[in-house]
Amino acid sequence: MAESIELSESVRLEREGDVALVIVNNPPVNALSWHVRQGLFDGMNQAVESGAKAIVVICDGRTFIAGADISEFGGSVPKAASLQEVQSAMEDAPVPVIAAIHGTALGGGLEVALCAHYRVAVDSAKFGLPEVNLGLLPGAGGTQRLPRLVGVAKALEMMTTGRHISSGEAEEGGLVDDVVEGGPEELKVAAIAFADKAIAESLPLVRVRDRNELVEAHKGDDQIFADFRKAIARKTRGFLAPEYNIRCIEAAVNEPFEDGLKTEGKLFMELMTGPQSAAQRYYFFAERAANKIPDIAKDTPLIDVQKVGVLGAGTMGGGITMNFVNVGIPVTIVERDQESLDKGLAVVRKNYERSRSTTAEQVEERMALITGSTSKQDFADCDMVIEAVFEDMDLKQSIFRELDEICKPGALLASNTSALDVNKIADATSRPESVIGMHFFSPANVMKLLENVRGDKSSDSVVATTMAIGKKIKKVSVMVGVCPGFVGNRMLFMRGAEAERMLMEGATPAQIDSVLFDFGFPMGPFSMSDLAGLDIGWKEAESSSSTIREILCENGRRGQKNGRGYYTYDAETRAATPDPEVEQFIKDFAISKGHEQREVTDQEILERLLYPMVNEGAKILEEKIAIRGSDIDVVWVNGYGWPVYRGGPMHWADSVGLAEIVSKIEEYSSSLGGKHWELSPLLKQLAADGGQLQTHVG
Ligand code: 3HC
Ligand code: NAI
Repeated sequence: MAESIELSESVRLEREGDVALVIVNNPPVNALSWHVRQGLFDGMNQAVESGAKAIVVICDGRTFIAGADISEFGGSVPKAASLQEVQSAMEDAPVPVIAAIHGTALGGGLEVALCAHYRVAVDSAKFGLPEVNLGLLPGAGGTQRLPRLVGVAKALEMMTTGRHISSGEAEEGGLVDDVVEGGPEELKVAAIAFADKAIAESLPLVRVRDRNELVEAHKGDDQIFADFRKAIARKTRGFLAPEYNIRCIEAAVNEPFEDGLKTEGKLFMELMTGPQSAAQRYYFFAERAANKIPDIAKDTPLIDVQKVGVLGAGTMGGGITMNFVNVGIPVTIVERDQESLDKGLAVVRKNYERSRSTTAEQVEERMALITGSTSKQDFADCDMVIEAVFEDMDLKQSIFRELDEICKPGALLASNTSALDVNKIADATSRPESVIGMHFFSPANVMKLLENVRGDKSSDSVVATTMAIGKKIKKVSVMVGVCPGFVGNRMLFMRGAEAERMLMEGATPAQIDSVLFDFGFPMGPFSMSDLAGLDIGWKEAESSSSTIREILCENGRRGQKNGRGYYTYDAETRAATPDPEVEQFIKDFAISKGHEQREVTDQEILERLLYPMVNEGAKILEEKIAIRGSDIDVVWVNGYGWPVYRGGPMHWADSVGLAEIVSKIEEYSSSLGGKHWELSPLLKQLAADGGQLQTHVG
């Protein structure tokens, strides 16, 4: 066995003939914690001192270095070599340095690899600079080195999306020098062989920083950046980091390497100390914390889900089905009659055919995994069934009674209800422990959030399986408790109530929507209603001009689908324009109800829309409906378009200041009244104690 020298608690040095191996072992993802940096730095120097003729940097465990240790950001850590010192030691080493990559080389990890003279990877490896998703930019030379290797266009795309590219794409783009099939063992052999070749053939010590051809090709070319900015403007609206990443690549093109590094360092620090990155880094850990259910043991046995049943092939049932077949799990979908079934399956097929990421062959493969039926008896061999019929308690209860008779013992029975009492649904069966809520969001094949609703009697195994299956179908799952509307819709109701009230006082739909749009939401409540259709649940015969919605429907305004709703829509571009007719309807209605009209400021609109949500979030925590404050943020970011650069309603409230919010809620409560303005005792207490909502555990 090769001699092994411990360089730090996570890095060791080994020797294979002329080749030194610097091996990182810092589970779970080999992040660049201080001891990894120190070990790598010492490893380079000791390897050279020991007379090694080449050095391989390689990692134990499931991945190559997946980036800087995010948990060190903003905290105090022991003094150790900086990442830049590590990189210089690699780049300036007098012998070839080879990075051997498996798993994911991300962020600072890829930036370390970019300082090796060569890169060897397994075919399953992935590469990326995902800092943008943390509100950052690659701060260890990545912005200057990546474009020098892969070119400006690819660097722009990779750095502003954070996309992970495959080994194949990396090799094609010039990021990797050799790709081998297999796992870590094959990688080690291949990397040592590459090192031996480098020694034997005296391969040059290639420093990426010196390779200027690809960046020089664009010197003075402002167009490529202008075009790129235009192309991503809609997607990145409100975010600072994508723009800062672009500026760094501009520096790579127009400035000498060392100056480019300085620009990168300056912009990195600006982002790192700003509120957006703080929110996005908080959110990274929030999403991972949401996976953990404190009272469910890690080794809780899971139900083996090989086959899924979905009841109802409507808007939700079809989308839910797609999630499962996308990961190869067969689905039996049952409708009440053949016509509805055919209609539902045709929508699923159309969705696949429209999707650019699905080939014609994949469409057929996926459709072949779906079995349509009009008999619930076909659920008999399913390991889990998800009900997605109309939102009606009597109907749901009768269906669960039937499922109880049909489904095999131990099968998981889930309801996609968006607001009904999961306990009542569970109690319709003889096995309430098997029942749980799985609240998907529309469109269910696109939206990331899965708000799981734990019934009072849901078993540990059912809870654990629901979370595990969510991960399998690539959702962001949050486990919440039973209450009307659960976490997301319960808070949304508060916002909606206040939006309606402000219309009565003189604010316009466009004003209210634009306040939320400017805050960072993709749209406001009235645009959202137009999109969903104003006539959902509206019955012409019973309509009596008793709400704005009824009045709009009575006047033929059904929303986007007929080009007229709260707004008027251009037939071709679908652009929305505020309509004076609607504003007059609202004004007349408000005056007829005795509401005085006044100017409502944007600031008041913002406070009155968002503070009741914060207050409700606190009540949700008080009632232990959410496990932790950060879970509420995960629900809002993934399910309702809360801008991630503001962290979510709990993080945002903490950043505004709870004392400020409490005092405003008290003011509004006394001037406006209403249950949603009644101050949450928890919020009051946290404000008084200097506590936080985002870290509160219910
Ligand atoms: N720092 C600290 N902890 C990290 C981490 C990091 N960079 N990346 C992951 N972790 C932790 C997670 O919090 C999680 O901890 P937990 O088990 O206690 O909840 C654990 O590692 C496993 O993470 P995942 O659950 O996400 O595991 P997956 O296997 O699903 O994904 C991954 C692995 C693809 C590496 C994913 O964790 C990931 O994308 N990590 C972040 C990568 C990243 O953003 N890197 C850039 C960092 S910033 C940077 O490098 C700045 C530089 O330019 C100077
Ligand atoms: P939908 O009306 O589009 O679909 C319901 C389907 O169920 C219809 O195709 C209907 O034929 C079928 N169905 C009704 N009774 C049936 C029975 N006895 N047996 C078999 N099939 C039956 O409704 P949608 O929007 O898909 O909603 C379904 C559920 O999902 C509801 O509980 C709703 O609250 C919930 N939900 C809806 C969301 C949305 O945005 N549409 C979002 C999240 C949850």
